[in-house]
Amino acid sequence: MKRLEKYTEIEYNYIKWNKLGGNKTMAKLPEGFMWGGATAANQFEGGQFEDGRGPSSSDCTTRGSRTMPRKVTYKTSDGVIHADVMFGMNAPEDAVYGVFEGYDYPSLQGIDFYHHYKEDIALFGEMGFKCFRMSFNWGRIYPTGMEEEPNEKGLEFYDNVLAECAKYDIKVMVTLSHYETPIGLANAWGSWKDARTIDCFCRYVKTVGERYNGKVAYWLTFNEINIAAMSPWMSAGVGQTTPQVSADISKHQLIASAKAVQILHEINPDNMVGNMVAYGANYPYTCNPADVLASKQAMHTYHFYEDVQARGYYPSYQLKKYEREGVNFSLTDEEKEILKNGTVDFLSISYYMSSVSSTDPEILKQVAEGNMGLGGLKNPYLKASDWGWAIDPTGLRIALNELWERYQKPLFVVENSLGTQDVLVEENGQKVCHDQAHIDYLRSHIEAMADAINIDGVELIGYLPWGCIDLVSASTGEMHKRYGFIYVDYQDDGTGEGERYRKDSFYWWKKVIACNGEDLSD
Ligand code: BG6
Repeated sequence: MKRLEKYTEIEYNYIKWNKLGGNKTMAKLPEGFMWGGATAANQFEGGQFEDGRGPSSSDCTTRGSRTMPRKVTYKTSDGVIHADVMFGMNAPEDAVYGVFEGYDYPSLQGIDFYHHYKEDIALFGEMGFKCFRMSFNWGRIYPTGMEEEPNEKGLEFYDNVLAECAKYDIKVMVTLSHYETPIGLANAWGSWKDARTIDCFCRYVKTVGERYNGKVAYWLTFNEINIAAMSPWMSAGVGQTTPQVSADISKHQLIASAKAVQILHEINPDNMVGNMVAYGANYPYTCNPADVLASKQAMHTYHFYEDVQARGYYPSYQLKKYEREGVNFSLTDEEKEILKNGTVDFLSISYYMSSVSSTDPEILKQVAEGNMGLGGLKNPYLKASDWGWAIDPTGLRIALNELWERYQKPLFVVENSLGTQDVLVEENGQKVCHDQAHIDYLRSHIEAMADAINIDGVELIGYLPWGCIDLVSASTGEMHKRYGFIYVDYQDDGTGEGERYRKDSFYWWKKVIACNGEDLSD
């Protein structure tokens, strides 16, 4: 197995945040650092009804907003159509999920990358991307998830996308499952609740692993595998939210992930395969030992997945938790062996915010605003985004240190950025977008990463900001929660023709990549 080369050229005595006048800053990143951007098919690909693609879990999820939750639509055996709030949903067992008249489903269009991929990849090339993260839509390749043979048209689409990236010398990172599961699997047996989904997933992994052998630089198995505990629908296409369902989904996905690692290594021993966890730092609200313990326990919700995927076995605290919750859980010797032999080559994370733990009932009343229930307790030392997510670059440095100390495997930040309400304005006959907040956010996080590398010695492969081109928000389904370097003119009310425009951050990101982070100034 080829391992990542150590970054011998790291200059540990790099120039530390040299203030070069104004707000100019410098950071020294390793040679070969992977700069780029990240996306996911369910939020940007569109092309829903074309070339034999089957519907996915994300297609059946309606548009929401910060104050209006997204809903999932299904029909019950009495013919009634329902729309249940996605987070925390508990649909009846006879639910047949689908897309119905009269609902607004943002994933069906995404930003229509399906028809714009050449133009979009050219823009990524113009920025000098070293690496582009995308996901394959499983349902484009196996429309219901259960076919014996793949859909050739779907495979051809990804042939074309990969060829286009190669044209600009952009390495590709592919997430095999990013918030979309073929609806056929959900309607057949409850998707990832059922162990039969593992084999279907492995067939798909083998197909794409062989087809795109040598064309994908980094593979990720499941996006934010830990989010299934909070939103089984979004993450796993499962319509029930209980501790038992959560344990079953995790077991099946962890086994599928370990098998995928082995399949991809068998196809090509040089394949670099990683996991992906929605990660964050968690702080005790006070130095009361009870708060410190609560904070440590909160971190278990991240570490459980990292432990299994990096070390190859279930940690004792998780088994004890299942016991306390009355969850029925066991692993056969064969399953233990699969987990042991399917550990990942590197760990990847999304990082957006940190959180706070307290045991004080008075403090617990002050739950911060925020969607996805992610706001949690308000940290008085931090500012938050318009969607209530605490902005905390130091938390990223803490998170990277924690992961490096625990696992000693190369790390990759494959999502990070700020959702903002960008506007397009007309200046001198040109449409422009001044998104200074993105620049400020990314700069502070690059500085934190450089500190983690240069001061703490963390091994970090690269940094792929989320939504490098505006796309649909996963938690709210909105278009106007924008992350991109590229503005896409689609609006939540259905207007807009999807034209692409370079934002201020586009030019800034191009400069940062060109100088390998040495000049982070505006
Ligand atoms: C991560 C997901 O949770 O965060 C992405 O992997 C998602 O799919 C991103 O889009 C940002 O969240 P949101 O809700 O702002 O889109």
